[in-house]
This record gives sequence, structure tokens and C-alpha cells, in this order.
Amino acid sequence: MLSFLILNGPNLNLLGTRQPEVYGTTTLADIENACANLAESEGIELTFSQSNHEGILIDEIHDSKGKHDLIILNAGAYTHTSIALHDAIASVEVPVIELHLSNIHAREDFRQTSYISKVAIGQICGFGSDGYLLSIHAGISYLGAKS
Ligand code: DQA
Repeated sequence: MLSFLILNGPNLNLLGTRQPEVYGTTTLADIENACANLAESEGIELTFSQSNHEGILIDEIHDSKGKHDLIILNAGAYTHTSIALHDAIASVEVPVIELHLSNIHAREDFRQTSYISKVAIGQICGFGSDGYLLSIHAGISYLGAKS
């Protein structure tokens, strides 16, 4: 059975009330439930987590080696700043899909740099909370296409 980790970075615990005009009104708990339902129907094992702390996200990426087949990562603002997250991804042989609810390419200049993109297999952004479900489908398809 395939095992996916969905890892969420800083401020994503506030989804639902955080800048709803940008991120929508769906909460992270709603997203987790929708992902769990999809994972069950697709027959994959899913771990869903969130942290506001860079080091904890790095630890989770390290721990995913040998445990998860794929990571879906919404690194929040660390996307644009964290060479440490880039290096963690480069250090484990686990494919990563970069995910954002908003279309970061249509936003402020400081969101135009992604340290995650350089080590991700691909990026999904701009589809709001549906991006989580799209990422699961993309991950299944990527791993299926590889085997
Ligand atoms: C985000 C985009 C980032 O630029 C921002 O810092 C976030 C959320 C998104 O999901 O659209 O925290 O990753």
C-alpha cells in the first residue's frame, strides 16, 4: 500500500479565518477530512500534519525516508526562504509535490522565489483547497507511471 505524507507549514493551521479572500474559508481540518476520504477510496495510507516550526518540518522530511512513498508539501512562507527545507528534501530519496492554495506566481515579488521548486517533482498552485486532492491524484499517477 502506498503511503503519502501531507505536510503543512506555518500559519496553515489558521486556514478558514486567515485572509479568506486569498485562501478561502475551508479549514485545515476540513481539508484533512477530504484528503482522508480520498486516500481511503484510492487505497493509500495517509499521514497529515502541520507545524509552524521549520525544524519540525525538517525532522518530518528526514523521518519520511523509508516510511512514506511521497510527500505533498505546502511549506507556506518557508517556501520562499528556507534553504534548510530545500536541503532536507534533497537529502532524502522521497519525491515531493510542492503545493500552494494560492497562485503564488500572480502574487507579490517575494513569493516568486521557491526553494522547494528546485527539488520538487512538480508544483500545484492556485486551486485553493482542491489542490490537496489534485496533489494526491498527481502523486498516485506519478508513482504509477514510475513502476
Ligand atoms: C501558501 C503561499 C505562501 O506564499 C504563503 O506564505 C502561505 C500559503 C499557499 O498555500 O498559497 O503561507 O503556501
